[in-house]
Amino acid sequence: MIPRFNRVRRWVYGCAEAFLLSAAALLLCVGAARAQQPRVPYVPTPQEVVDRMLQMAKVSANDYLIDLGSGDGRIVVTAAKTLGTRGFGVDINPVRVSEAMENAQKAGVTDKAAFYQRDLFQTDLSQASVITMYLLPRVNMELRPKLLDLKPGTRIVSHDFSMDEWKPDAFAQMYVKEKYGNSGGQSDVFLWVVPAKTPGSWRWELAAGGKGAKPLTYTVTLAQTFQMVTGNVSVTGRTAPLQNVKLTGTEISFSFTVDSGTGPVRHEFKGRVEGDSIIGSASLSGSRTQGQYEWNAARGVQNKTSQQDR
Ligand SMILES: C[S@@+](CC[C@H](N)C(=O)[O-])C[C@H]1O[C@@H](n2cnc3c(N)ncnc32)[C@H](O)[C@@H]1O
Repeated sequence: MIPRFNRVRRWVYGCAEAFLLSAAALLLCVGAARAQQPRVPYVPTPQEVVDRMLQMAKVSANDYLIDLGSGDGRIVVTAAKTLGTRGFGVDINPVRVSEAMENAQKAGVTDKAAFYQRDLFQTDLSQASVITMYLLPRVNMELRPKLLDLKPGTRIVSHDFSMDEWKPDAFAQMYVKEKYGNSGGQSDVFLWVVPAKTPGSWRWELAAGGKGAKPLTYTVTLAQTFQMVTGNVSVTGRTAPLQNVKLTGTEISFSFTVDSGTGPVRHEFKGRVEGDSIIGSASLSGSRTQGQYEWNAARGVQNKTSQQDR
């Protein structure tokens, strides 16, 4: 026989537990419903802007394209049909996904173009060499850290919306006859190339003084914000600022002039960043030093603090 006091206490605990479970279930339902809400309304990109986006990103049959919020699938379908590009689109709205699948079917590209009902924030983008999107500024900003972490060289094209301080590598503005239904308007197209991560110090040697000359050791220290890179070079105890630094994806180039004992020598470097190496060529010109050289730089200490935002 359970004493009356214990029975009441059990009943109260039971009620409290049931209330907490119901509240937790309600919160989960609200959260799930929110996650399924489209964050961006459906407005299709006019076909001429789709064509321009693909052209600006130099999309080809070798690319893998992912459209984030794919609507009726026009970007993925156009790339598959006209360029032979493989890829997929994701949309949170099942009606849009069905439309896109139908359009892929009509265009005869179901072997190249797929569509999934999925939240774009839950989508694995690692396969992409090109990302396309027509979203909203705050959604672009939310995606930005994930996009910056994609494979260097991945191209991202956005219709109409920027990514604030991450300035585009190319930009186009066009007038379209039919933008929203029947009325015309202006469309902006932004292109970014995910930059390689270059901050820190890099070292290499060049035997620039001709046959038998002692190789000189160069040390360059780079700081980077998005694709903007600045730095200094140090060689034979002299330092100089880097000039004309350009980083597009994995392609880097810069120049500087130093006097390493035989008069001022103009140095021009261009190469490809491959992880902790840069492989490319150097061109030197001075009164007593002229020539083209192979350039192989190795990363020393990586300066994590000067990396772009995450
Ligand atoms: C402006 S439309 C762009 C459609 C297509 N990309 C185009 O350019 O024609 C945005 C699309 O994003 C979808 N969308 C909104 N929020 C989403 C999310 N969280 N995940 C996936 N798709 C989403 C909408 O359903 C809509 O179809």
